[in-house]
Amino acid sequence: MTIALPNLRKDTILNLDRDGTENSIVHQLILCLNRPSATSLPVSEIVNTFQRQGKHFVPKEVLLLLSRIRDKLSESDDGTDGWTIAFLDVLLDKADQTYDYHSYLALKVLFWGDEHRIDETALDENILALLLDLLDFETAAPNQAVRWLDRLPADAELLDLRCQRILKLVQRPAERLGIWPSTKDLSAPQLSHLLLELFDRRCPPTTNARLHHTILPVATVHDEYMFIRVLQTFETVFRWLARVLQRVIDLDTDNIDLSTHLMRRCSVRLNEVQFLLTLLSSMRKEAFADFRRFTEGASAIQSHSYKLIEALCRTPDPDRLNSAAFQAVPGLKPILSSQTSTLDQVLERMKHSIAISDTKFEAFKDSATEFETAVLRWRKFHHKLAVSMLGKTTGTGYTEGASYLDKVKDAPLLLATTSRRGSG
Ligand code: HEM
Repeated sequence: MTIALPNLRKDTILNLDRDGTENSIVHQLILCLNRPSATSLPVSEIVNTFQRQGKHFVPKEVLLLLSRIRDKLSESDDGTDGWTIAFLDVLLDKADQTYDYHSYLALKVLFWGDEHRIDETALDENILALLLDLLDFETAAPNQAVRWLDRLPADAELLDLRCQRILKLVQRPAERLGIWPSTKDLSAPQLSHLLLELFDRRCPPTTNARLHHTILPVATVHDEYMFIRVLQTFETVFRWLARVLQRVIDLDTDNIDLSTHLMRRCSVRLNEVQFLLTLLSSMRKEAFADFRRFTEGASAIQSHSYKLIEALCRTPDPDRLNSAAFQAVPGLKPILSSQTSTLDQVLERMKHSIAISDTKFEAFKDSATEFETAVLRWRKFHHKLAVSMLGKTTGTGYTEGASYLDKVKDAPLLLATTSRRGSG
C-alpha cells in the first residue's frame, strides 16, 4: 500500500524553505524522481535526514517524494534491486501504515541476501558488526563534530559503563574470529579503537552499507541507538537458533552426535548473549519513555524468529496459539501448518530408536534440556527488565505489559521427556 500523492510540483516543494538540509534533500529527491534508478537515489542524504529528525518527524514532502520514487522504481524493468525497494519500504512504513517491529528494526534490509547459513563464523561476524557499531557510536558521542541523537545525552560515566559492557559482549566472538587484541593493559578506548580497526579490515564489504541503512530511530534520543542495535543483535541470534533447530529436526534420528553438538551450541550461543539484557538495563527510563511515545505498534511480540523457535520446539498449546502471542505473528501461520515435525517429536523418536544407545540418547536429552533452561533464563531476565522499565505501563504490542510476560515466562518449551533408564 502506498500513500496518496497530491499533485506535487517542483517549485511548490522548493518553496518549502525550512532549512538548508531539508531543502537540499527535497531538491535531490526531485532530481532522482526525474531519472529514477537505484543508483541515483541519494541514500546517504536520505539516511541523514531520517537520523537527524527521527523517522516519526520526517516531513511529509520528503515521504511523498520517496513514495513516488518507489512507485517508479517498482514499475521500471531496469532490474532495480529488491534491496532498494526493501529500504524504501522501511523508510515509508509509518506513512504506509505498515510500521511494526520488523520495519522498525529494518530487518529485511539487515538480513538481505543472508543465505540460510548456520555456520558460527557468519553469526560472529554479524553480531560483531552490530555491537562494534554500537561501541563506535557510544565512544564517539562526546566528540561528534555534528551532533545527532542529541536529546538526553549520556554522561561520561554512563558511556563508560556501556563501553565496558559492550566490550564484555564482543570478547568471545572477537576471540573466535581471531581479532581480540593480545596486547595487555589497553584502556577501554584503546581497545575499542583497535577492535574497530581490526574488524573493519576483515568484515565483508557490504557490512557498512547494511549498518548504515538499518539505524533509523523514531526520534532523536541518544539511548534509542542502543535499543535498536540490541534488538537487532537478539534477532540475529534468534534467527540463527531457529535455523539450527530446523537442522536438528531435519536430521531426525540420523546423526545424534551432530544433533547433540548443535543443540549444545544453541544453549552456548543464547547464554552468551543474555548479557545484552544487562547492557540494555543501562538505558535510562526517561529516555526510553521519551522515544517510546513513537514506537506504538512495534513490539517484539511480533518477532517471527522468537515464535518460530517456540513452535519448532513443540506445537504450541491451542490457548497459546489463539492468544496475542501468536496473533501477533500472522506470517508464521503457513509455516506452522506445513510443519511436519518438532524437536519434541524427534526426542520421542530417539527415545524409541533401537539404533541409538542409552548414553547417546541421554546426552541429546540433556542438550535439549540445557537449551530449554537457557530460554527460560532469558524470559526471566527479560521480564525483570520489563518490570523495571515499564512498571505497570502497557506494552507497545497492546498487551497489559509486564504482567503478560509474567504469565508466559515459565511455560515449558519442551514437553518433559522421561529417561529411557528406568522407563522400560
Ligand atoms: C526496555 C526493554 C524491554 C521492555 C520494556 C520490553 C517489554 C515487553 C513487553 C511489555 C512485552 C509484551 C508485549 C507487548 O505488549 O509489547 C514484550 C514482549 C516480548 N519481548 Fe520485550 N521488552 C524489552 C526488551 C526486549 C528485547 C531486548 C528483546 C529481544 C528481542 C525482547 C523480546 C521480546 C519478545 C520475544 C516478546 C514476546 C514474548 C511472548 O510473546 O512470549 N524484548 N516485551
